[in-house]
Amino acid sequence: MTSPVVELADERAARRGVRLFLKRDDLIHPELPGNKWRKLKHNLGPAREHGTVLTFGGAYSNHIRATAAAGRIFGFATIGVIRGEEHLPLNDTLAYAERMGMRLTYLDRAAYRRKHEPGVVAALRERWGGFHLLPEGGSNAAAVRGCAELGAEVPGYDVVCCPCGTGGTLAGLAAGLAPGQRALGFSVLKGGFLHAEVERLQRETYGGLRGAWRVEDGFHFGGYARRTRELDAFIADFAERHGIVLDRVYTAKMMSGVLTLAERGAFPEGARVLAVITG
Ligand SMILES: Cc1ncc(COP(=O)(O)O)c(C=O)c1O
Repeated sequence: MTSPVVELADERAARRGVRLFLKRDDLIHPELPGNKWRKLKHNLGPAREHGTVLTFGGAYSNHIRATAAAGRIFGFATIGVIRGEEHLPLNDTLAYAERMGMRLTYLDRAAYRRKHEPGVVAALRERWGGFHLLPEGGSNAAAVRGCAELGAEVPGYDVVCCPCGTGGTLAGLAAGLAPGQRALGFSVLKGGFLHAEVERLQRETYGGLRGAWRVEDGFHFGGYARRTRELDAFIADFAERHGIVLDRVYTAKMMSGVLTLAERGAFPEGARVLAVITG
């Protein structure tokens, strides 16, 4: 099944002769929407083989939530290693994960920063036994290959946009596009390190760089999960114009970036620009 594409009639783009489209990847699955499904798809085989998946995330992580749901749906055990201390009662994300059968464990912030180091992983294996390890955000080579399928589903658009958190979605999307198309990722984090992460993920997956892509660093609104009055106003206005409520952490920042760039004339006249609603 491929997710639908709809054209967005928005005067801010139309004035510049730009046609805007949305790819509604958020409609792929109620529990595993958007890039969650694309990243998990090729990890399901190894997950079933090992019987258990261990992964990492913050207390509000969409990835933790989706991995827990995948374990319940596809029949493997899940362990969530959560950044920071346990806070009871559990918030909605962690309570949902636990209801889906995920076992939760916690790492203090210093240890969490070292979570992918061999010593930390070895200690986790000692405690929990064998597991398929998914890195934070679910971004590994199998995830990048899943996101490349997204690129292959969208021929005919000049620029394809996505939000960027760990860079896996952009790394795959760009690799899956046809020659002449380019991918534009909107970083939702401050710091400007995502370019290097996307490069690292493409090298890990393909042994080299793939596709034409760029990370746009000007639309993080202060950093990860930060909200501003301007961003809230943008979300309310977009909902009023188009009847779509954007997610504040990811897709709202991307759409605000896409429309601002369109207004600035950053896309050539006649361009067909597609924004992926990733969740
Ligand atoms: C809805 C949504 N969009 C985009 C992203 C960012 O994707 P990536 O971490 O692959 O850059 C995430 C996080 O995984 C997400 O939950």
